[in-house]
Amino acid sequence: VTGLVRINTPGYTICITPGLIHSVGDIARQTAPAHRYAIITDSNVAPLYAQQVATQFPTGTSHTFVVPAGETHKNRETWASLTDQLFASHFTRDSTIIALGGGVIGDLAGFVAATFMRGIPFIQVPTTLLAMIDASIGGKTGVDTLSGKNLVGAFHPPAAVTIDPEVLETLELSHWRGGLAEAVKHGAIADEEYFLSLDETDSRLLRPSIERRDRAFRDQLIVRSVQIKSDVVARDEREQGVRKVLNFGHTIGHAVELLSGFTLSHGEAVAIGMVLESTAAERLGVAEPGTTARIINLVQRIGLPTIRPGGPSADALLDIMRGDKKARGGAIEYAVPAKIGTMAGAESGYAVRLDDTTVRAVLA
Ligand SMILES: NC(=O)c1ccc[n+]([C@@H]2O[C@H](COP(=O)([O-])OP(=O)(O)OC[C@H]3O[C@@H](n4cnc5c(N)ncnc54)[C@H](O)[C@@H]3O)[C@@H](O)[C@H]2O)c1
Ligand SMILES: [Zn+2]
Repeated sequence: VTGLVRINTPGYTICITPGLIHSVGDIARQTAPAHRYAIITDSNVAPLYAQQVATQFPTGTSHTFVVPAGETHKNRETWASLTDQLFASHFTRDSTIIALGGGVIGDLAGFVAATFMRGIPFIQVPTTLLAMIDASIGGKTGVDTLSGKNLVGAFHPPAAVTIDPEVLETLELSHWRGGLAEAVKHGAIADEEYFLSLDETDSRLLRPSIERRDRAFRDQLIVRSVQIKSDVVARDEREQGVRKVLNFGHTIGHAVELLSGFTLSHGEAVAIGMVLESTAAERLGVAEPGTTARIINLVQRIGLPTIRPGGPSADALLDIMRGDKKARGGAIEYAVPAKIGTMAGAESGYAVRLDDTTVRAVLA
């Protein structure tokens, strides 16, 4: 990958290039011109990048709002507090929000944008691998509730997505791994060759020393994942059919994440979810034999967990899964591969039902 990569979706452009953090102001002015810009970020990202972004706006035209970092703050209380702070700072309809952070900030700031005075534009400036390759694309915004993840939200596509891979230099390796869980998902659902290439992440990317990380490999990985995610979304923005494939690992994953009290990160929970969902699919003959073993191998190589933490019972997990947005008429739906690179259930709109007894046994 050399220079700027632009990926056009029906509603907006995703730009990927090293150093792009310095062009957020220009991109915002071009794609979502406003009188004032609200930069929403978290307490870890603020000291690293907020100033760099704020100085790209003339004095008095931007204001930075910082929320405490972490999934436990992706809730209605933080949404309400941010909304009130915008009013208190005299933000009006002719404002644009800049979501500067990981997936938590993208979902949260995006939902503030979706609801503020019935909706104002926002720009995604993802700063984690997970947000760059997955969360910032596709227009899903929202917050968690005690009953489940992302249960309150809105479809509100961003005006632009600006991805600067260089900001990943400050990201902890554990969060790199979390992002790679979504990359494994992209390979498993759509591209076997890409899945195979991820075998090299531990030698090329997951190195403590920044100098020893392979930048070309990093950028290629980001571009390929963004292509897969944006292609799927473009075919089915509202998740009536094919977009469901992006939920692979997430039916069980979201329940595991929630019931861990968010001690597991989203990526870790998705890794476990992919392994368990694939196991059930393989037992039921939906997935080709050997599919799960390949997923376990790759997930372990990346350094992600494959076994769910003890504690919650299988029934407690199934209860949460029945309350998920992916359940229909009380039946839990899954997105699972038929084999690596190909999803099952094309004939049923990519929603696959797996028998509860088998899933309970897999969860036990
Ligand atoms: N909307 C979607 O389609 C979608 C898709 C996938 C995931 N998600 C959501 O995304 C969230 C997970 O996102 P995440 O993994 O990015 O979590 P996160 O936003 O909590 O970020 C992880 C950690 O990294 C820190 N951080 C962020 N950027 C950094 C940087 N450049 N340098 C150093 N530290 C940095 C954050 O402060 C945080 O502590 C979940 O809430 C999940 O539900 C949404
Ligand atoms: Zn996810």
